[in-house]
Amino acid sequence: MCGIVGYVGQEQASPILLDGLRRLEYRGYDSAGVAVYDGQGGIRVVKAKGRLQVLSDLTQEGTALPGTIGLGHTRWATHGEPSDVNSHPHMSQRGKFAVVHNGIIENYMELREFLENQGVTFASQTDTEVVAQLLEYCYNGDLMATVQKVLHRIRGAYALGILCRDQPDVLVAVRKDSPLILGLGEGFNLLASDVTALIRYTRDVVYMDDNEIALLSTAGVQVFDAYLQPVDKEPQRVDWEISAAEKGGYEHFMFKEIMEQPKAFRDTVFPRIVNNRVVLEDLSLTPEEVRDIDHIVIIACGSSYHVGMVSKYILEKLLRKPVEVALASEFRYSDPFVTERTLCIVISQSGETIDTLAAMREAKRLGAKVLAIVNVVGSTIAREADHVLYTWAGPEIAVATTKAYSTQLAVMYLVGLYFADLMGRIDSNTYDAIVCELLRIPSKMESILENKEHIQYFASIYFNHDSIFFIGRNIDYAIGLEGSLKLKEISYIHSEAYAAGELKHGTISLVEDGTLVVALASYGQLFEKLMSNVVEVKSRGADVLGLTTQRLKESMEKTVDATMAVPDTHPMLLPSLDVIPMQLFAYYVALMRGCDIDKPRNLAKSVTVE
Ligand code: F6R
Repeated sequence: MCGIVGYVGQEQASPILLDGLRRLEYRGYDSAGVAVYDGQGGIRVVKAKGRLQVLSDLTQEGTALPGTIGLGHTRWATHGEPSDVNSHPHMSQRGKFAVVHNGIIENYMELREFLENQGVTFASQTDTEVVAQLLEYCYNGDLMATVQKVLHRIRGAYALGILCRDQPDVLVAVRKDSPLILGLGEGFNLLASDVTALIRYTRDVVYMDDNEIALLSTAGVQVFDAYLQPVDKEPQRVDWEISAAEKGGYEHFMFKEIMEQPKAFRDTVFPRIVNNRVVLEDLSLTPEEVRDIDHIVIIACGSSYHVGMVSKYILEKLLRKPVEVALASEFRYSDPFVTERTLCIVISQSGETIDTLAAMREAKRLGAKVLAIVNVVGSTIAREADHVLYTWAGPEIAVATTKAYSTQLAVMYLVGLYFADLMGRIDSNTYDAIVCELLRIPSKMESILENKEHIQYFASIYFNHDSIFFIGRNIDYAIGLEGSLKLKEISYIHSEAYAAGELKHGTISLVEDGTLVVALASYGQLFEKLMSNVVEVKSRGADVLGLTTQRLKESMEKTVDATMAVPDTHPMLLPSLDVIPMQLFAYYVALMRGCDIDKPRNLAKSVTVE
């Protein structure tokens, strides 16, 4: 999604803004721009469709745009096609205001019509421009009062950065339903939509809350509520290293993050196992509250939803309680059935996905308890949930998630074991066996990653297929969903995941000579059933690539064209191993097809619009 960065200080702003935008590139964008106060009574804007390099060239790495205060933006088009003119920052007609915006102004049509009737001429098709024009229309010499007035007129979700020509020593930042963070420095201050844009300059940050307005100057930062009353905000310290958000010699962030999974899994799980017991010190649910849960609803989007799908099988088996999995975008509009004995588990890497956030708020409104599993510390979902467990994956930059998926799953195992123990649903032998295997997962992940060339070889055979099905039963089906999503989002190959038994109820009609079917069969008790489905697709001309465990490999090889095998482990933990060949397969296929792996078309890292 769009990225915002703002700087006020004594250095030249443009190079800092461009650097910040570069660090936000991973979020996905189609155009970029900067606005800088020129020190002589004017705001200069340079913006361009395309990669950041275009903007960098146009401004000679920022040197052609002098000034010590400014705003930058990377745009992911919503209203109006990607173009130079629709890029941000947007200026008001007489050049008094420059505005950058993430989110959507829902009533922009009516505001635009109103302003046009007042003689305002619009330059772009965007919803954002109405904010700049409205600011100029309402301006009465008092910047904060003008901003407040405009906020009363606009509806929707927004993070705004505002620069006013008449008060060129301050930036105004506004937040509602779209993240915005303030970076505190010595003699300078910053604002950004994502901490990665700030981390090179400062580790001291303030997370803005909804309906807050901040005023940034060289001297300091003040935060106000919607009534312009000062708000005391506690600065937080960001402790991850800048290198964590850099490629470190790898060709792609996605590959780096795939390779980081053993470490991410260790960091997430090991500190929470003490004397072979799961200890969730950071979980604020009391044992009584856990025992009182009679129903669990897992809410998430995309890959996080797929973690929920796997977790349903695991939690139901461990807890013998009903577990539903809901797409966040559906949950909030479905008149959901939850009670105060329902635990809603919300899963989100970014902690900012708007659908997940809205669904969480709805669940809370209905009286459910909410436990969030989140990667980004201080994110909105983490702050608003009743209880939080962090996935210590470190910053995830590639659009296609890998290590966040693995750590979300890891936290789910821990939650499952911890709850099962408190609820008296697990015997000590089973508990001990799972914990023991949990500690072995990282080294088993490493052994799969050491043999990655094997999967690269399969990708080189199959990368030209146009249609790929993933089939599996139960947990294998849930892993297939993730395998299919990984592949389609970065390689653009049409792909679907099916519960294998469903194929013959319609979809098998699409299987023909040359269709590739990835068959997942990790579980002994379902192996034969799955192999019957494999025979069905093979007899219709499909090429079949199998994924199974070492133990079942030989049996699978008899029927399929090629086999990938992961080490054996406790069945509950197999998804953590199975997903890695799926990620590598998608990665290598996309590489061979020459795709832009870290920035897949039309996709954004953090989806902050509905
Ligand atoms: C796919 C992917 C997305 C995210 C989804 C939810 O690789 O990354 O499907 O999983 O947009 O994002 P979070 O987890 O940040 O809420």
